[in-house]
Amino acid sequence: MAEFDLFKLVRNEMELVESQLYENVKTPELILGEASTHLIKAGGKRIRPGFALLAARMYGDDLDYVIPLATALELVHMATLVHDDVIDNSVVRRGTGTVKYQWGNRISIYAGNFVFARALAIVATYDRRDVLELIADASMKICQGEIVQMRSCFNVNLGLKNYLRRIERKTALLISLSCQLGAMLSTSDNLQIEALRRYGYDLGLAFQITDDILDFVADEATLGKPTGSDIRQGVITLPALYALYNDEHRVELARLLSSPHECQENTQHIIDMVCDSDGIDYAYAVSQYYANRSKRHLELLPDTPVTETLQELADFILARDY
Ligand code: IPE
Ligand code: IPE
Ligand code: MG
Ligand code: MG
Repeated sequence: MAEFDLFKLVRNEMELVESQLYENVKTPELILGEASTHLIKAGGKRIRPGFALLAARMYGDDLDYVIPLATALELVHMATLVHDDVIDNSVVRRGTGTVKYQWGNRISIYAGNFVFARALAIVATYDRRDVLELIADASMKICQGEIVQMRSCFNVNLGLKNYLRRIERKTALLISLSCQLGAMLSTSDNLQIEALRRYGYDLGLAFQITDDILDFVADEATLGKPTGSDIRQGVITLPALYALYNDEHRVELARLLSSPHECQENTQHIIDMVCDSDGIDYAYAVSQYYANRSKRHLELLPDTPVTETLQELADFILARDY
């Protein structure tokens, strides 16, 4: 299933967002502009602007007002990716070389900051303190999530709660916010805004759990980024967590996962151990749980083609292979 079909109700608006992305990273500084444009050109699923636009489409036909916000959400996301690839030392993203790989750390840090600042400038045009505060809060929490993740590396004594906290902050909150803000700009019905926020939150958790599964099982070419990078870095995600607590080889696995040397040198062996446990199935079940829960929040919304699309998106997030 292609995500392009899933955003068909906002297809024209998505194209406007696309051109706005390019417009907004224009700068006289050649390298900064090139590095920022590079990641836009590489594509990506654009789910955050897509969700903001879909949420707004529930309440009206004219989405001109939401285009800048949708653009800003993708820019915030892009900024986190550029920095994430520095932290993770990643070479490939969206099927092409990362900004880190092509331009190095210094340009990447500035490009990330530049793109983030561009997002803030867009948000400022709305003159809405509530919107700005929500974006600032989500951005802070992404940093917190990344730091908790960094601190948790190679620690085999942490459980589900720590994992859920990490993925909530680093991923779910921005997806949740995209749904919430799209609604906030288009309706004043607080119950419905809240339902969309919750939908995005649960769907965001499901989304990151799937991302974590794909890091074990995906085809790299389809995924557009390397697999195995979580284990290599000692990031213990849900499939590994399950194996650590339930597999018959859990003692050996704990020894391997707590060793940076083993994670680096025996990555494939560890991945095989996790895949041989029921860790992948378990993680899919948890992802399914959150995807189902996300759909239940939609029951509070009017029955429209948009609601149906949001349901389909929850299914796509689970079944995706990229
Ligand atoms: C990647 O996000 C980082 C995560 C939060 C898992 P996406 O999977 O949305 O990345 P793109 O935008 O499609 O490249
Ligand atoms: C998501 O974490 C990154 C951000 C939210 C910034 P990952 O490290 O899992 O993302 P990928 O797998 O590199 O896309
Ligand atoms: Mg990464
Ligand atoms: Mg990942």
